[in-house]
Amino acid sequence: MKNRPIDNYSVEMYQAAADYILERAGTRPDIGLVLGSALGNLAQLIENPVIIPYAEIPNFLTSTVASHAGQLILGTLEGKRVMCMSGRFHYYEGYDFEDLVIPMRVMQCCGVQTVILTNAAGAINESYRPGDIMIISDHLKLTGASPLRGPNREEFGPRFFDVSDLYTKRLRGLVRTCGENLGLSLREGVYYFAVGPQFETPAEIRAMRILGADAVGMSTVTEALTCGHMGMDLIALSLITNMAAGVLDQPVTGEEVDETGRRSAADFSALIREIVSRLE
Ligand code: HPA
Repeated sequence: MKNRPIDNYSVEMYQAAADYILERAGTRPDIGLVLGSALGNLAQLIENPVIIPYAEIPNFLTSTVASHAGQLILGTLEGKRVMCMSGRFHYYEGYDFEDLVIPMRVMQCCGVQTVILTNAAGAINESYRPGDIMIISDHLKLTGASPLRGPNREEFGPRFFDVSDLYTKRLRGLVRTCGENLGLSLREGVYYFAVGPQFETPAEIRAMRILGADAVGMSTVTEALTCGHMGMDLIALSLITNMAAGVLDQPVTGEEVDETGRRSAADFSALIREIVSRLE
């Protein structure tokens, strides 16, 4: 993997990526969407799509996970202009935390002001069930560096920034209303960021529960922090794909994660559509 100084991207490098994307797309997106494991098929909802493989975008990162398609899709959803990452980047793939700011900064340079992050997660909260959708209200990230470590890019945000409303409270209310309209009973809880790629041990899950976490996953938080630094509005949703390690007397498997993703795709898609239709 490359060995470069922490965040040596100039603003011009982010802008070059954005310019390339906007040139190909022909319009500026307002809403950013990041599709997590097993949720990639949501990308098919996007109308008049312009599809750009990550590898073609200057200064972008490339995806290494089989269930992640690795392409940007620009188009419309419910009449809104969206920019969708089908496939995201994770720390466990070998990127440094500091690399993981790149996609969200490029989105912002493209004009995106509101971001919807999605992921698959394991349930720590024993009242949750696979197939449930959880609105992330807050997170715990107790391991590893911040993606905002290193020289601060003042153009994007301040050195020290507040994260007490990272998962925008006003938008969480909007998501709850969308759930009610669709007859979906949504959960709302705290997401624990685990570095992966191994699933957790039962002892780790017990510890996370004591700390106040409801679900666990290996993504989202680096992107959320990057959005917070830039003052973007943020919604983050977890599809509960499995009970976390040790909750049931059975192993956690990637197959179960993918299978629940497939089974719940319709509910999840309906919710995303409803949210996008109601965003300003
Ligand atoms: N742990 C971590 N990440 C996950 C899980 C889990 O149980 N399920 C889906 N992503």
